[in-house]
Amino acid sequence: HHSEVTLRVNGKPHTVLVDHRRVLLDVLREDLDLTGSKKGCDQGQCGACTVLVDGRRLNSCLLLAVTLDGREVTTVEGLGGDGEQPHPLQRAFLDRDAFQCGYCTPGQLCSAVGMLAEAAAGHPSHVTDPAAPAGPPVPLGRPEIRERMSGNLCRCGAYPRIVEAIEDVIE
Ligand code: FES
Repeated sequence: HHSEVTLRVNGKPHTVLVDHRRVLLDVLREDLDLTGSKKGCDQGQCGACTVLVDGRRLNSCLLLAVTLDGREVTTVEGLGGDGEQPHPLQRAFLDRDAFQCGYCTPGQLCSAVGMLAEAAAGHPSHVTDPAAPAGPPVPLGRPEIRERMSGNLCRCGAYPRIVEAIEDVIE
């Protein structure tokens, strides 16, 4: 089966005819030519495919595109808004050399942006909906950042510098 789905991706509407079995990651990469989001494991384990859906970080390899009609998707290509300027976290990743091969970086960036929103909204654990009611902002020390970013693997082991880059935008 196929259905027409309209997604807002990085602020622009896209209407695509999708096979019900296709996941968002493949639609982004193959239909919309947004190849920033990466396919690592394709089974929800590595986080390389992380995007924001209505502000919430999710593994796009696990999301059936047909379920996302009318949703707002932000990929690494859209983090900086209109694309004229990098997102402050992208700047911080550059300043801190927070990558080696770079394959996990788009997912790390999207995940960190979602994570900062979750913590600011007071959510105690990782991967929750930042729009859901919570409490006062959660302070983010290094252990909290590592724990909340634990869904994003980096095979090069750039974790210390990724944490430093995230700390840069918190300060
Ligand atoms: Fe989606 Fe690994 S490719 S979590």
